[in-house]
Amino acid sequence: MSKICINIAWPYANGPIHLGHVAGSLLPPDIFGRYNRLKGNEVLVVGGSDQHGTPITVTAEKEGSTPAAVADRFHSINKKAIEDMDIEYSLFSKTHGANHIEVVQWMFTDLLNKGYLYEKETDQYRCPSCGKFLPDRYVEGTCPKCGETDVRSDQCDSCGTTFEPGDLIDARCIHCGSTPEVRPSNHFFLKLSAFSGKLTEYLEDKDYWRPNVRAFTENWLKDGLIDRAVTRDMSWGVPVPLPNWDDKVIYVWFDAVIGYLSTSIEYSKQIGNPDYWKEFWKDPETRHYYFIGKDNIPFHSIIWPAMLMGAGDLNLPYDIPANEYLMFKGGKLSKSRGGAIDIPSVLSAYDVDSVRYYLSTNMPDTHDAEFTWEDFRTKVNSELVSTLGNYYHRCLSFTYKNFGEIPEADTDGGSKEIRGAICSTLAEYEEYLSKCDFKKGIRTVMELSRFGNRYFDSVKPWSLVKTDREQCGRVMNNSLLIAKALAVMAWPFMPGSSEKIWKYLGYEGTIEEASINAVTSPLHAGRVLAEPAPVYRKAEAEVPEYDENKEDSGAFSDFAKTDLRVGEIISADDHPDAEKLFLLRVDIGEAEPRQIVAGLKKYYSRDQITGRKVIVVSNLKPAKLRGQMSEGMLLAADDGELGGTAVLLLRPSKNVPPGTKMNSGFDNSSSEIEYKDFLKVKMMVSKVSGGTVLCNSMTAEIPPDAPDRIAVIIDGEAAVGLSDGNGCMATVDSDIKDGAGVR
Ligand code: MF3
Ligand code: ZN
Repeated sequence: MSKICINIAWPYANGPIHLGHVAGSLLPPDIFGRYNRLKGNEVLVVGGSDQHGTPITVTAEKEGSTPAAVADRFHSINKKAIEDMDIEYSLFSKTHGANHIEVVQWMFTDLLNKGYLYEKETDQYRCPSCGKFLPDRYVEGTCPKCGETDVRSDQCDSCGTTFEPGDLIDARCIHCGSTPEVRPSNHFFLKLSAFSGKLTEYLEDKDYWRPNVRAFTENWLKDGLIDRAVTRDMSWGVPVPLPNWDDKVIYVWFDAVIGYLSTSIEYSKQIGNPDYWKEFWKDPETRHYYFIGKDNIPFHSIIWPAMLMGAGDLNLPYDIPANEYLMFKGGKLSKSRGGAIDIPSVLSAYDVDSVRYYLSTNMPDTHDAEFTWEDFRTKVNSELVSTLGNYYHRCLSFTYKNFGEIPEADTDGGSKEIRGAICSTLAEYEEYLSKCDFKKGIRTVMELSRFGNRYFDSVKPWSLVKTDREQCGRVMNNSLLIAKALAVMAWPFMPGSSEKIWKYLGYEGTIEEASINAVTSPLHAGRVLAEPAPVYRKAEAEVPEYDENKEDSGAFSDFAKTDLRVGEIISADDHPDAEKLFLLRVDIGEAEPRQIVAGLKKYYSRDQITGRKVIVVSNLKPAKLRGQMSEGMLLAADDGELGGTAVLLLRPSKNVPPGTKMNSGFDNSSSEIEYKDFLKVKMMVSKVSGGTVLCNSMTAEIPPDAPDRIAVIIDGEAAVGLSDGNGCMATVDSDIKDGAGVR
């Protein structure tokens, strides 16, 4: 048994992950991790959300929100999407977390003490009209090498060249369009040049790397390594652990790559074995794999190894199977190109294993792969459903109906021909999977299913059963032997459907427990079969067109439509025709206060309620309640899910003015929502402890000075605290049952 550390590129938490991320860097490591688990290897899988850097500050500015709110919202959304894709991590962490920040600062200090970081005055872009230094993505221009226009100032996405300030042609500030000047600013530099020799040596035995990864890395080395700035003039990021560096932070890439190590440490703490990570990072027998997209190659094949060498005594990458891009009609697949390719939209139309299958067979491993929805449906329907699915179903249902149990095998545990086909498939399969050649790996499985279908057709069990029932049983034992081999070998690619086949074969445990040995083990007669059902479904629905105006994620989509505002109750009068209702006038920062009808008399007196701050759903379609117009609704927690004994109005935790938006991070509020859509939004009040809040076994991310109890919105398995994006959260005045619903 060996130990394998699987490191997965950290998606930026500035948008929802989509099929491009899954095919490029998320699904391959899951297949590899599962394959190694099948082999009985000990696997640690680490990664998380890349929450720092300018992509997130740019998004936050566009949304009028804060980087922390954006980063935590997409962390929750992406974590859930990854789980929904059946992609398993030991721990999916995030870079804006206490443990990560601590490890980054440790490594920074360590490299500084060892002389691998040094301070130097540098040139930085500075916008004269905005009056500030401009980080990478705030400057765009033309690539001096390939001529691509509108590239960012740190790297050209088209040719991969990285830039220093001043390199770009026709640079401009993305805020105001003016031409930035280049001005001096002090920064820390990583002494990359000091590692040239060691890196060249490191590369010597890496002839098994993918050609693109090796070529890219060799070229970088050949061009000569240039020391790189590892701090930036901005405030969002990991603080520089030194006095008088408050206006600068550690560069996002320096911080993010350390995430592999920090998450291994964090996971070890979580499982109560704080030294566990050392078995993966310090035992030279442990192999480290890094699954990334091609634009990340130099950071993983040069910079991160140099940092690890500098710190010393930590394992270097063994392999870096970087993928190319999934393309759609000639361009890189993106949300504006390819339709609604975010995970919730895709999974609303298709089964997860259909998606995993298609992306496995069409993986952009050695060259870009073309993606179209038509091709997706064709492959799912003609290969997955008609070949593999059909094979499973015809032999399982035939045997179930005619025998009800595993029939007697040939004396040697299945005929030679069949066992031979399985064994040679397995050998090929293992060859490919151990080399991360997943596309070829899944092909061997599909080839065996074609073999199975041919066998089934040739032995004609449907007529054999009438003439020679015993022989038919032996034939079906052979067929099921193939089905079992298929299910085990397909498991890393399509775990959910494979486990179902396993159950239909009458097994109790899981495929993982049975291990890769189950591919070739005999099928003992007599085990009772479970009634099978088809495990794959035709892909028929269309995925909706991508809609610019639609909420980005699919998750939280009903919530995103609501507009929540801080209100101040100006007056409370009796409703003329209803005993339990107040007629309120509420200032929500508009020219005129709104009239809102609220059923609060049982819980609040007029004095208690007048003048207090509340949180108002401000874009509900106005409705008449007992003859009086109500133009909004106050949010309140209710311990009995409406009509409970305690009803507590929500309030902002800080003294913010009426009109303040309380669902920051969600800027998609539609003009008006129906009450029935609002009812789909799940909100509850949860207790805060240790900087996070736990609700329905999910954690939501919250600011450090949050109140003891906060209102949280949940969607599936993702949770987000209600906030104005500036540390003001929705809270209640006194204790209420943890998990009390909010309406
Ligand atoms: N966030 C980067 C991207 O999406 C990947 C970072 S990988 C890490 O391109 F290791 F550096 F985190
Ligand atoms: Zn400017």
